[in-house]
Amino acid sequence: MYLGLDLGTSGIRALLVDDLGTVLGQADASLATHRPFAGWSEQSPSAWITGLRHVVSSIGKQSPKEFEALRGIGLSGHMHGATLLDEHDVPLRPCILWNDTRSSNEAAALDAIARMREISGNIVFPGFTAPKLQWVRLNEPDVFSRTARVLLPKDYLRLWLTGGHVSDMSDSSGTSWLDVGKRSWSEEALRLTRMSLDQMPELVEGTDRSGALRESLCKEWGVRGPVIVSGGAGDNAAAACGVGCLTTGSGFVSLGTSGVILAATDCFVPAPESGVHAFCHAVPGKWYQMGVVLAATDCLEWLARTVGNSPEGLANELPEKVDGPSKIVFLPYLSGARTPQNDASMRGVFAGLEITTSPEDLARAVMEGVAFSLRDCFEALRSTGTRLEQMFVVGGGSRSRYWLECLSTVLNLPLSCPVNGQSSAALGAARTAICAHTGASPAEIMKFPEVSETIMPRDDLLDRYEDGFQQFRSLQLAAMPSRI
Ligand code: XUL
Repeated sequence: MYLGLDLGTSGIRALLVDDLGTVLGQADASLATHRPFAGWSEQSPSAWITGLRHVVSSIGKQSPKEFEALRGIGLSGHMHGATLLDEHDVPLRPCILWNDTRSSNEAAALDAIARMREISGNIVFPGFTAPKLQWVRLNEPDVFSRTARVLLPKDYLRLWLTGGHVSDMSDSSGTSWLDVGKRSWSEEALRLTRMSLDQMPELVEGTDRSGALRESLCKEWGVRGPVIVSGGAGDNAAAACGVGCLTTGSGFVSLGTSGVILAATDCFVPAPESGVHAFCHAVPGKWYQMGVVLAATDCLEWLARTVGNSPEGLANELPEKVDGPSKIVFLPYLSGARTPQNDASMRGVFAGLEITTSPEDLARAVMEGVAFSLRDCFEALRSTGTRLEQMFVVGGGSRSRYWLECLSTVLNLPLSCPVNGQSSAALGAARTAICAHTGASPAEIMKFPEVSETIMPRDDLLDRYEDGFQQFRSLQLAAMPSRI
């Protein structure tokens, strides 16, 4: 038995699977994000541990016999977060998350140092870890001077589970401190950002063993043990493992808190000028490319909060079939923009509102705006030579049939819905643990998923959505206060 633990932005999920990766049980706990100032986004590491305890105890109660036979744990988590620890491993401040853009000036300054892109293969985006440390150095010097170690969010869970400071290649790729081509920390990048190697965790591949569950936890949880903990992965690489996207030609689109288009690559394909990320995969000798929209289901959450509904409530009011682009255009930059604009100052826009506009009209426009923004990512990936003929679709937003048909038509690509598509990252994490424990090869364990349905683009509406996309692009300037 294996456990996949996925620390998502909106909640933590535990998935119990057997030796073949078949899902036996699932438990969830929600997590709050704090936004004390514009552009800030923080979570409390202690809330992650409370959530972790909760989901593990639920799984233990659901399937006591199976849980007792636990052999391995795999971790997945939202990427880039800066969890700063003192010399006793105590967090010095709340974790600064991936969609926090307070360090945009520091990011621009680091990105202007040519070696940073050369080493990391990526733009130094404001959401990445290194610029956050620069912000802390300039604004919270006491915290900076006491920072003995920087951990990514899922690696803080690992510290609690095993006592070890370890990370994996895929998650570490999003720090700007990793030499992504060589799969090792870059002392030069660390020096350029006034950091040092001893503040970094040890590195392992996602499918390697990173440590073992502390004996006291084995006792407390009632598992026989020993239980290994694999390197695991950043959430997007974990989802790729969950849907078997390991090699060139395979990819997925994710409608989660963030929106992502990911294409696996057999080699390292850096293309920072396009705004595409090029990161190590969670399996040895593989990489991936990715375009990121900072707010996807987050936009629908925001709308639901604003109109006093739930995201599901809004989605359920829409028909199953799309019938052409909405008259209202929504630009989804509620948390700024990553691919391709890299502009933390961009903000959301609704255009074309009328006196009769309803919450349902707004929900359609929001889904469409996110789809158009993902099309921007797709075009950025294509500009690097990447081709995808079909994609899997994962994440909570993929429950909406309307959103899927809209996205498929905007991308003009078939989208396959995996069974358990909302748990791909947790499944991928569990799969890394199976590999680490059994020594099985990733290709053997990380197979393509069973597909419940494939959504086809609506040929009759392709031209109209293409026009809609061009209109969306022509409005982007309105979302860029810095450029008007
Ligand atoms: C990827 C990114 C997000 C987070 C949150 O670069 O910032 O997708 O991993 O899930």
